[in-house]
Parts: sequence; structure tokens; C-alpha cells
Amino acid sequence: MRVLLTGHQGYLGTVMAPVLTAAGHEVTGLDAGLFADCVLGPAPADPPGTRVDLRDVTADHVAGVDAVIHLAALSNDPLGALAPELTYDINHHASVRLAKLARDAGVRRFLYASTCSVYGAAGGDELVAEDAPLRPVTPYAESKVRVEDDLHALADDDFSPVYMRNATAFGFSPRLRADIVLNNLVGHALLSGEVLVLSDGTPWRPLVHAADIARAFTAALEAPREAVHDRAFNIGSETNNVTVAEIAQQVADAVDGSKVVITGETGADPRSYRVDFSRFREAIPGFDCAWTVKRGALELADAYRTHGLTREAFEQRFTRLAVLRAASDAGTVDDTLRWRS
Ligand SMILES: NC(=O)c1ccc[n+]([C@@H]2O[C@H](COP(=O)([O-])OP(=O)(O)OC[C@H]3O[C@@H](n4cnc5c(N)ncnc54)[C@H](O)[C@@H]3O)[C@@H](O)[C@H]2O)c1
Repeated sequence: MRVLLTGHQGYLGTVMAPVLTAAGHEVTGLDAGLFADCVLGPAPADPPGTRVDLRDVTADHVAGVDAVIHLAALSNDPLGALAPELTYDINHHASVRLAKLARDAGVRRFLYASTCSVYGAAGGDELVAEDAPLRPVTPYAESKVRVEDDLHALADDDFSPVYMRNATAFGFSPRLRADIVLNNLVGHALLSGEVLVLSDGTPWRPLVHAADIARAFTAALEAPREAVHDRAFNIGSETNNVTVAEIAQQVADAVDGSKVVITGETGADPRSYRVDFSRFREAIPGFDCAWTVKRGALELADAYRTHGLTREAFEQRFTRLAVLRAASDAGTVDDTLRWRS
């Protein structure tokens, strides 16, 4: 299939593009390139792509495409808190616009990168499945709920949106992020010897490796229409339904000489959800996630050591909010996060 992959120069997109290509798909990227230089190790070989802001996409960008995989977004809660209105402009309005252009151009499948954080304050130890009430607690998560709703209204016989509600990602990507929980804790452990948890460690935070997300999207792309049409899927595995304190312990086990420190200074985190991932396994027989948290922690520790993680890179280059603040302070992006020409 000819696949347009938005966000191909992000953390997940950089892992997903080669997986799609290896599966025989013809991949074209589309990305503003906000984090294109956030590289750990050798520079990745990107597929052919266009540097364009999602808000400026035109019909030309989706012409001749069979499927869109839409990852591009302001991708976490701190970015959403920085500028909620920008989060809604980019994540919500521009995403729905892209989907309308795609549908008008005859694109048949639209895989949308949603998130398990749509369950937000689910609380408790019960597993939440896709039909659980959505209780987003941040503008980021709310933007994802709004897109799912609006894409649902676009679904018809010729256009199949699919809502891929990913657990929190972890693992190595050539374009790293250290502002997601496991990647962050492994970095802290290596740099300071402490696995530093600022919350009380109790919230449930299901995890999934970036490579498993890439395999899941590829499977959803190739699945029969009736298996995925207009459906939401939690992407991850019950094995990796873990509390933040458990994640911290796995990290301490993976990084010799490190120890867990739970300060509790930010109190109880309202974002807590324990997730049922069975629907995707039933829709895609044979699919399961391959990566455990422990193996991911070992992989990351190895990658950080091999490529020489510095404190500066950890706190600046691999932290999305810090990168955008630095670009804004340097005047390379304006206050709507568009590049200044
Ligand atoms: N990483 C996770 O834990 C996780 C979990 C669940 C869902 N997701 C979703 O998966 C997607 C990818 O996440 P990621 O971790 O790779 O994030 P990322 O921040 O690494 O990548 C996002 C990409 O989108 C691009 N982008 C941002 N604003 C843009 C704009 N206005 N125009 C064009 N491109 C723009 C960025 O340049 C970047 O390359 C996001 O939609 C995110 O919400 C991620």
C-alpha cells in the first residue's frame, strides 16, 4: 500500500517507518520536523517525506495515497498544558481536517494514534476495555477523545478510521524521547544512580514498546476492513499493566547500582488506568506484544551507555517541552510553534 505516515520524524514514527517498509509498503512521511534533531546514536534513514505543518496540509499531500497513519501531534500532557489552545488546533482541528482531505481523496483507511490516557481517571484495579467511559484529565487526552468522535462521524463504506489507543510507549528509537516514564527512569538511574519517582508510585500505567506499536499499526493496516472499521483498540499487553512503583523497581533491577527513590512530592497522580488489551488480539489473530518492561529497560540502558547519554541531552534534547521552549526562546519557532522562515 502507499502509506502516508505523519509524524515520521518523531519517536514512534522513526521506529514505524522501517517496519512498514519491510512489510512491503511504500511509505511517504509528513512532519514539521520539530524533533528531527533529537537523535541518539547514528542518524536514522527517513523515508521520502515532506516538511510541512499539519495545519497547512492540502489535498496534494493525500493524493494517490491508499492509507494514512496519523501520528503527528503535540504528544504529551506537559505540551498540552503549555498551550492548550495549540494542542486543540494541532491535535484536534488539523487532524480532522487531514482526515476530511484524505476521505475526499479516496483514502480508504485512516489509522489514528490515540492513547489509553483517554481513560484518564479510571481509578481502581478493574481492567478498562474500549467501551469504558472516557475520562480525560488533560487537554492532550481530551484532544484525542475529540478526534475519535469526529473521525467516527466521517466513517462510511469507503473510509475506515481506526482508533489505536496506545499504552504509554517505551524503548529505544533513533529519535529518542526521555519524557515518557520508562525511558525517563532508566536515564535517571544511569545518570544519578537513583530511579526517581516524584508521584507516590501507586498509579497504574500500562506500557508498550515502540516496536510493538509499529507492528500493531502494520497489522491494522493490513487487516480485513470488517475487523477494524471504525473501531477503537487498546494497544499493549496485560503483562505490561504495571504501577509506576513497579516500573521503577524493574529499572533498578536493570541498571546495576541504582536504587528506587519515591519522593511522593507531586502526590497521587489522577491518571491511573489498568487496561484490557484483548480486543486487538481477537481482531488480529496471532498478534501479541513481544516486549516486556524488563527487557525494554535493559535495551534502553544498553543504548544510553553505548551512545553516551549526557545530562544535557537527557534534560533538553530528549524532552519535548524543553526542545520547544528552546526553539521558542531562540526565535526559530513563533508562538504558534510554526517555523519562522
Ligand atoms: N509515545 C507515547 O507514549 C504515546 C502513547 C500514546 C499515543 N501516542 C501518540 O502517538 C503519536 C506519536 O507520538 P511520539 O511519541 O512519536 O511523539 P513525538 O513528539 O516524538 O512525535 C510527534 C511528531 O509530530 C510532529 N508534529 C508535531 N506538531 C506538528 C505539526 N503542527 N505539524 C506537523 N508535524 C507535527 C513532530 O515534529 C514529531 O515528529 C502522537 O500522536 C502521540 O500522541 C504516543
